[in-house]
Amino acid sequence: MALEIDFQGKNVVVVGGTSGINQGIALGFAELGASVAVASRRPEKVEATVALIEASGARGFGACADVRDFDALSRFFEQAHEALGDFDVLVSGAAGNFPAMVNGMSSNAFKTVVDIDLNGTFNVTRAGYPYLKKPGASVINISAPQAFVPMQAQAHVCAAKAGVDMMTRCLAMEWGGDGIRVNSIVPGPIQGTEGMDRLAPTDKHRAQVCQSVPLQRMGEKQDVAHCAAFLASGLASYISGIVIPVDGGWSTAGVGGMSGTLAAIAQMPR
Ligand code: COA
Ligand code: NAP
Repeated sequence: MALEIDFQGKNVVVVGGTSGINQGIALGFAELGASVAVASRRPEKVEATVALIEASGARGFGACADVRDFDALSRFFEQAHEALGDFDVLVSGAAGNFPAMVNGMSSNAFKTVVDIDLNGTFNVTRAGYPYLKKPGASVINISAPQAFVPMQAQAHVCAAKAGVDMMTRCLAMEWGGDGIRVNSIVPGPIQGTEGMDRLAPTDKHRAQVCQSVPLQRMGEKQDVAHCAAFLASGLASYISGIVIPVDGGWSTAGVGGMSGTLAAIAQMPR
């Protein structure tokens, strides 16, 4: 059996792909030979990421779009399609997070996270669909452990990411007939990311997180990129509608230990 993962001649689009875990996914696909398009809100992040993609020898494209703006996303997809052609892989990873108790957040704060994470996933997948290769495309939504573990100070993210995983399952059913596979990846705590900076801001918090992971350490961006490459490859051609943790075993039990820590962080001044 040949275990080869090669994305030469393939087109990958990563929305929210200009920093952290999602940028790691975009660069991972570029290193495997794919042409890669990225979008996010800030032009300097888009430009820097396209430069990194091109520095690895791949074709890159980037433009600004906020996932809360369906029309802006549609324009981005149209331009990315013009630049690259049909999309073999579409990754939806934009998200917002801050630790806040329900009584410590406004209606707009809750709505903002749901709009970015959940409605954003609808917008990305809905606006991207016309440009997906049919049959053969792979859609990957980036979820979080909050989707299935309730946590204090994370009601907004828990609600939104649970919705993301249900979108994944529903889309796998609706688009299976087109030959499109749809899966979620649930990263565990990944070091050197904005998400971890917000949820574990001090060395003490980071040590607590590591102790709660069965493998006793945080993951690397590459760990998530490897899973995305596998899911998008022919090796996973009969895998659709799944939610796969890449978390060192965190989701077995340890992740709940974050809840009390986050409640304390939410009381700290903003
Ligand atoms: N606690 C409580 N409420 C908060 C908050 C906090 N720490 N941070 C922001 N909010 C509230 C704001 O006060 C505002 O509500 P209001 O209008 O009632 O005052 C609401 O959330 C929206 O904030 P705003 O700054 O206008 O939103 P934005 O669209 O500019 O940015 C965020 C979105 C808030 C999610 C911002 O943190 C962001 O851009 N995050 C992206 C990066 C990220 O979160 N990475 C980690 C991914 S896991
Ligand atoms: P990050 O670096 O902040 O990445 C977020 C990306 O999304 C950035 O490229 C950002 O760029 C973009 N983005 C944010 N809001 C957007 C919007 N409204 N429209 C378009 N793009 C937007 O965070 P990260 O920690 O690496 O997290 C990446 C993903 O992994 C998220 O889905 C997160 O929920 C998930 N995750 C992370 C961890 C972790 O340990 N970090 C754990 C579990 C799950 P701009 O600022 O330019 O918009």
